[in-house]
Amino acid sequence: MVKTSQEIERIKVSCKICKSILVELGEMVRCGITTYEIEKKGEELIKENGVESAFKHYNGYPANLCISVNEEVVHGIPSREKILKEGDIVSLDMGVVYKGFYSDCADTFPVGRVKEIHSKIIDVARASFAAGILKALPDMRVGDIGVAIENVVKANNFSVVREFVGHGIGKSLHESPEIPNFGEPGKGEILKENMVLAIEPMITEGKADIMILKDGWTVVTKDGGYAAHYENCVLIGKNGPEILTTV
Ligand code: MF3
Ligand code: CO
Repeated sequence: MVKTSQEIERIKVSCKICKSILVELGEMVRCGITTYEIEKKGEELIKENGVESAFKHYNGYPANLCISVNEEVVHGIPSREKILKEGDIVSLDMGVVYKGFYSDCADTFPVGRVKEIHSKIIDVARASFAAGILKALPDMRVGDIGVAIENVVKANNFSVVREFVGHGIGKSLHESPEIPNFGEPGKGEILKENMVLAIEPMITEGKADIMILKDGWTVVTKDGGYAAHYENCVLIGKNGPEILTTV
């Protein structure tokens, strides 16, 4: 959906707040901390910034943040029992609502020293995002973004999760169009100036197959391979893509 300049101004404020909180929470990631402590700090920062969580109660989701560790791909529920340890990789995903406007961003952080392949999967998630947003231009299509992301992931021998996708964002968390992290050049919806898209590669070190745990939320790889997630809200600007979730 195309946004007005007033809507874009508000989305920008929402995005800045969201990313600033994510960065602060990312600095907490270390051995011995529980994902619940990060959630609690997130809740505190959301209040302090005068915004609301975009995730809490969304379709019944029970927390402010999604914290997904190792083979968890997305939608990990923070828990007092989940203590981070050296070698883990941890994705923090959060969204806020400011004056009715949503933002959404995610990043994956290493805990201490991690295996080389896991530090690589974190880098490739970012690199694939970077390749994807180069196609976030007026008159390009959703498939152009998807295939650009997919090509970077495949070239590095990782896999793209197919069941979860990026999305338009603004007055709600998930708007059209959907932005799969795979696709075909020249296929799919046409992109227009002043659309805002949450582009979010979710990639795995082994096979792409996922399943959902009994908690009804946590998405994990079937083969136990680790996953990385990287997400920003991007404005399709007149002069090219603009990442809005920056500090
Ligand atoms: N970044 C995820 C998304 O775009 C987070 C949603 S989690 C939920 O869908 F809790 F809100 F469902
Ligand atoms: Co999202």
